[in-house]
Amino acid sequence: MKHVCIWGIAALMLACTPTKDPVEQKIDELLSQMTLQEKIGQMNQLNGMGMSDDLKAQIREGRVGSLLNEVNVDVVNEMQRVAVEESRLGIPLIFARDVIHGFKTIFPIPLGQAATWNPEIVEAGARVAAKEATASGIRWTFSPMIDVSRDARWGRIAESYGEDTYINAVMGVATIKGYQTDNLADSTAMAACAKHFCGYGASESGKDYNTTWIPEVQLRDVYLPSFKAAVDAGCATFMCSFNDINGVPSTGSKFLNKRILREEWQYDGLLVTDWGSMQQMIPHGYCSDMKDAAEKAANAAVDMDMMSYGYIDHLEDLVKEGKVSEKTIDEAVRNILRLKFRLGLFENPYTAKVENPYYRPEYLETAKQAAIESTILLKNDNNVLPLSNVTSVAVVGPLSNVGVDQIGTWCFDGEPEKSVTPMQAFQQLENVKVIAEPGLQYSRDKSQAGINKAVAAAKKADVVLCFVGEEAILSGEAKCRADISLPGAQSQLIKELKATGKPLVLVVMAGRPLTMGAEINMADAVLWQFHAGTMAGPALADLIMGKAVPSGKLPVTMPKMVGQVPMYYSHKNTGRPASNITLIDDIPVAAGQFSIGSTSYHLDAGDKPLYPFGYGLSYTSFEYGQPVLSDSVMKQDGQITVTCQVKNIGKYDAYETAQLYTRDLVASLCQPVRQLKGFQKVWIKAGETATVTFTVKPADLAFCHEDMATYAEPGEFHLWVSADSQQGIPVKFVLK
Ligand code: BGC
Repeated sequence: MKHVCIWGIAALMLACTPTKDPVEQKIDELLSQMTLQEKIGQMNQLNGMGMSDDLKAQIREGRVGSLLNEVNVDVVNEMQRVAVEESRLGIPLIFARDVIHGFKTIFPIPLGQAATWNPEIVEAGARVAAKEATASGIRWTFSPMIDVSRDARWGRIAESYGEDTYINAVMGVATIKGYQTDNLADSTAMAACAKHFCGYGASESGKDYNTTWIPEVQLRDVYLPSFKAAVDAGCATFMCSFNDINGVPSTGSKFLNKRILREEWQYDGLLVTDWGSMQQMIPHGYCSDMKDAAEKAANAAVDMDMMSYGYIDHLEDLVKEGKVSEKTIDEAVRNILRLKFRLGLFENPYTAKVENPYYRPEYLETAKQAAIESTILLKNDNNVLPLSNVTSVAVVGPLSNVGVDQIGTWCFDGEPEKSVTPMQAFQQLENVKVIAEPGLQYSRDKSQAGINKAVAAAKKADVVLCFVGEEAILSGEAKCRADISLPGAQSQLIKELKATGKPLVLVVMAGRPLTMGAEINMADAVLWQFHAGTMAGPALADLIMGKAVPSGKLPVTMPKMVGQVPMYYSHKNTGRPASNITLIDDIPVAAGQFSIGSTSYHLDAGDKPLYPFGYGLSYTSFEYGQPVLSDSVMKQDGQITVTCQVKNIGKYDAYETAQLYTRDLVASLCQPVRQLKGFQKVWIKAGETATVTFTVKPADLAFCHEDMATYAEPGEFHLWVSADSQQGIPVKFVLK
């Protein structure tokens, strides 16, 4: 009877076991044929630039799973041929590349893409990038970078979607969708890579590769949600970060890679190290040698080694010594093969020739639209912009005609000569005479020798358009600055242009926020671009001449002084929020110790930024009504609907981005003064009113507690629908 029962249960269990996914079956089959060395070979990613006999031999022997950086389609196909036809099991390679904000047609840097507040244009840009890159054989890009970045000194803020958790999630997901589509096996789909996991943006003093200390509560509330959103969006791969986090380098972190990524989030994609980050665990002081590093990375569930040679040189011994189990190796190889199957590489390993793959007119048009929407109007005194009744413009400044700088950091394959610069774009306009004189040769140029000529050009024109900012080389990886003011003699140039008395329009092209309040003060109007790509010039010409209306908004806080950094809108209130501000020059001599202030601000900078997160003007103006809630009480299993009327009270039809913020007034852990929970970019015709509608649920109000559980606490909340993170009058609601 007992036996009958046991067999009965076993039969029942078998009947209930879902049939295995066909991809998993194929993986099982392949895995069963692989030697340990072949498995370890899959875990090895090498720099594949060029085609050496040695590299071919390694591919043939099954010692390489992926190559990065080769973009010549003939070379890609030849290497693939060696893998597929000459290696024992014929497992195809995956070719990877950093396609970060475009492949050939370059889009705004990710910080600029975030400034569009338009996930659709971001997705469209990623789609273009994927179409161009896959034509060169690239099926895996190391993007999006969804590191929340709150320190403008950090050069890699350029590659991020800015300071906000929610925006990083939304833009990250849009980018992933654009690359991957909903069919990874499509020949134009490219596997995305959510990076850098995790906390890289919190590097101390904004210095690249630096240590981070992130309490788990903050990690879960601020840094992890964008990565969780990437998992939910089906992001095919993840990349470890270079930094150590609370003392453990990410590449060796069981907590991040096993507990959170694999166990909590059940992620079945591929996790790759960053370039050499396995080896870097030695100088971190976490591993004694490469063998130790390989052991720690493998046991932290890192699947693929990018350019440390740690796995290929040591894993076999580590398995034989029992320090890494074969099960661990199998798991990693499963994740790698799964990606290759999902990409359809076993069926279609080769890249077909595509006619005219790059810079198609529709790609350039999308890039131009992205550049337009990424441009932020910070100031427009007396409605200087758009220009009207202007017959001549002086086009001056070191960035007015430099293709390589406007395309920004991280565009290995972008061709500067394909950029259309502002000067070229203005020269194409009819009825506007362009008087061009850069004044400075490049942004760091300290020589003032050319300034006189720029001033002379300014005097001859109706309006001065001055293009300043940072060269591309000043932002991006390892390009951190302790002083984030305008480099070189640009400030002097602006001063002398101002002295001409001509209307002065500043166009800033930079990779990060800059502390340039003084220069902005001198200008009549300021347009800001985070390096906006191939089509930055035509976008600016359209905006300046009024063919397009600015709609970009800041995805980062613009500080007044570098000492305010890190500065972000969703800070805590403190026990002494800023009030009664007395600035340094107003302090009476010999003032008593507590005669001023005693609240949270800087004596020299006050408490406000130069411009807040979410800020951006238009040529028209918008009037926000009070948000109306469907109910002032939200139940734990319910939701409320928020509507708000936004009226275009100016003369131009334009986009406006309405932003939804909330605040938990009293909680068991202090909560930020505002948190972005949604936004809507709407087109509103002059004189018309749009109604924006948001839904807020308890999950939107949840935060991580001391026991690491994330849920919303009952109590009173504030809610804003506003034009930026500082405007609006809050309405109250209660979570029951
Ligand atoms: C960067 C990564 C990049 C990798 C491969 C590293 O230096 O940190 O973001 O994907 O190189 O080029």
